[in-house]
Amino acid sequence: MSEKLFLIIIAASSVAVASFTVYEDNFDDIGEDTFDIDNTHSDREGKILFPFISIVRFANVDCANTNTMNGTCLARRECNNLNGTITGTCANRRGRCCIVSRTCGSATNVNNTYFTNPGYPAAYGGGPACTIIVNRCNNNVCQLRIDLLDMVLAQPDGDGVCATDMLTITGGNTIVPILCGDNTGQTLFVDFNGNAAITISVTATLATTFARRWNIRLTQLGCDCPGIAPNGCLQYYTGVTGTITSFNYGTTANTILSASLVTGTRQLANLNYGICIRMEAGFCTIQYSQSPNDVFSFTVTGDVEGADNTVLGTQIGAVNGAACTTDFVVIPNPVVVATNLPAGTDRFCGLGFVPVQTGAKPFVLYVVTDANEGATAVTPPDVANRGFSLTYTQTGC
Ligand SMILES: *[C@@H]1O[C@H](CO)[C@@H](O)[C@H](O)[C@H]1NC(C)=O
Ligand SMILES: *[C@@H]1O[C@H](CO)[C@@H](O)[C@H](O)[C@H]1NC(C)=O
Ligand SMILES: *[C@@H]1O[C@H](CO)[C@@H](O)[C@H](O)[C@H]1NC(C)=O
Repeated sequence: MSEKLFLIIIAASSVAVASFTVYEDNFDDIGEDTFDIDNTHSDREGKILFPFISIVRFANVDCANTNTMNGTCLARRECNNLNGTITGTCANRRGRCCIVSRTCGSATNVNNTYFTNPGYPAAYGGGPACTIIVNRCNNNVCQLRIDLLDMVLAQPDGDGVCATDMLTITGGNTIVPILCGDNTGQTLFVDFNGNAAITISVTATLATTFARRWNIRLTQLGCDCPGIAPNGCLQYYTGVTGTITSFNYGTTANTILSASLVTGTRQLANLNYGICIRMEAGFCTIQYSQSPNDVFSFTVTGDVEGADNTVLGTQIGAVNGAACTTDFVVIPNPVVVATNLPAGTDRFCGLGFVPVQTGAKPFVLYVVTDANEGATAVTPPDVANRGFSLTYTQTGC
């Protein structure tokens, strides 16, 4: 093999998202590391082309790593070029497990970048907007998957508005509501708008003492990637069963009082988004019910404090149809599971949720809230709503 051919092979291995690393190994690269190269020698046998020169090739697979971040298996040089952190070896010690992690004031076009607060996992006091600009790693990327692996910001004000801390995501083709509070475990899918960057920004008010922190994984999804969400779906669930929770859903009440001095809400104001559920092979309908063992698991409108357990989480507390004008979920063309009769409405609100089933496809649940989740907004007033936790189950054809 000529030296020219070497150069071609090396040039073909793109740095950021190559599915393989291929490089000419003259031993310098590995020799700079501290571990014993003898262990790698057997991997090289059969690949030696000239004395001390061989071709090293391995897949750029994920390498599970710390509890908080995974790496990608790259050559040491590739990782250094990305300003990544090497945490160990992979591919029989020929590669390095490389974590790319960024914080305030950064930009990335590297797949699987982690965006954290400064000093993560330690808490962050706050300050000016902490921003990362995400550019596509190549022209065939259509969507950014944003995993809020750890996302704890200050609660909204008592009326559901993110006034102290806020997570904003702009620049994409999917409208993302402003988020705050507890959103650990939520995943967002944001379509790239052509070649435009997506900007993720956390604004945290320094003057408000709060142990805020975040660790966000940013996965770039190719247009033909099986994991990509249908266009415009802010959230996307797969699997025959699952639990869908609204943003900042939690088991404790918001302790901040609303403008009318009643217990504040966890439900966020100004939501308007769609949650898509992949129709699994052989399944035709989807059933929703409020998550069990929690009477607050569907508290979307009304006065939670004024209601007791004969109302909370029961059919009595459930409201639907034209009575739902401010905050509600939309489920197209549903049938009431208990009666097998059409529900006659697609809007659901109130303080309880009666199980419904629908065969309308695609499977989408819309979430709408208005600008004020406080007691002054409407009659009956909204007091201390938590939002929703809905369990879904697909049923066979
Ligand atoms: C790391 O990868 C494993 C296996 O794919 C996955 O289960 C886990 O959630 C990942 N962890 C992080 C922090 O990305
Ligand atoms: C790595 O850091 C250097 C110096 O700060 C910077 O010039 C370069 O753009 C960074 N590269 C990447 C891929 O972030
Ligand atoms: C980014 O990495 C994920 C796995 O970690 C992979 O599924 C996806 O295809 C990669 N994106 C690109 C554009 O290669």
